[in-house]
Amino acid sequence: MSDVLKIVDLHVSIGDKEILRGVNLSMTEGETHALMGPNGSGKSTLGLAIMGHPNYNCTQGEILLNGENILELEPNERARAGIFMAFQRPVAIPGVKMADFLRHATTNVRNPERKEGEDLIPMREFRKEIKANMEQLQMDSEFARRYVNDGFSGGEMKRAEILQLAMLQPKFAILDETDSGLDADAVRLASQSINEIGHNKMGLLIITHHDKLLEHNPPNFTHVILGGRIVETGGKELAEELHAHGYDRIRKQYPEAAKVNDESEAEAEAVV
Ligand SMILES: Nc1ncnc2c1ncn2[C@@H]1O[C@H](COP(=O)(O)OP(=O)(O)OP(=O)(O)O)[C@@H](O)[C@H]1O
Ligand SMILES: [Mg+2]
Repeated sequence: MSDVLKIVDLHVSIGDKEILRGVNLSMTEGETHALMGPNGSGKSTLGLAIMGHPNYNCTQGEILLNGENILELEPNERARAGIFMAFQRPVAIPGVKMADFLRHATTNVRNPERKEGEDLIPMREFRKEIKANMEQLQMDSEFARRYVNDGFSGGEMKRAEILQLAMLQPKFAILDETDSGLDADAVRLASQSINEIGHNKMGLLIITHHDKLLEHNPPNFTHVILGGRIVETGGKELAEELHAHGYDRIRKQYPEAAKVNDESEAEAEAVV
């Protein structure tokens, strides 16, 4: 049976501010979904809520993986269940080497029952795999010995996120602006790599403001989020329309959601 990730009427707050106001979205393995929307509309919030970020409080609704509500699971348990997120802004973990981080993460995801301290996947096997993936991503082998994201350039961080995707082979992957900060050649490589790793295989939720990442990963569905709600869903032509013409039509067609979005952005700016 195919794996299904289903989000039902999801409401998410940060502190006492409601960001997501009833999101519904269903993905089946092998499908690619594009999630688009103006700045501050709630795209990253949705990804982080699916992953279980502790600051993102799900006040209503459900996130179901193959029918089971995962809202009570910790982020690491969600990862073991097959969910992955490539972050918009990956954090550095000084002191933890990429290779050690990936060897632990890969072992834990492949062997979800593993207890801390039990065997890791054999070094030879792991080395072979990481080397092949790094070559494909045109990453210098030296990266494996560096601390996770520590001093990485913007583009290097995004490549490191794709390397994790390749190693962890999740059922569902949320890619949050995996193209941001990449130069033109690097975006093409990222788009091709994501295609090879997951397109038509995993369930992909691709968050992007540009069309290049979708070039090799044409979405079966495009969702537009505005003011914390998915206001429209279409096919790949919807993504094309938004890339070409922006969000004017969407804002006019959904004035209530546009108002929430603008207020939320204004508030965020006031804080800064
Ligand atoms: N930790 C936080 N504290 C307060 N407000 C937050 C926090 N995280 C997000 N928000 C607010 O939630 C709203 C949605 O943010 P989110 O990061 O999900 O937007 P986005 O759609 O990913 O935007 P972008 O395209 O700029 O990445 C914004 O108004 C933002 O300021
Ligand atoms: Mg974002």
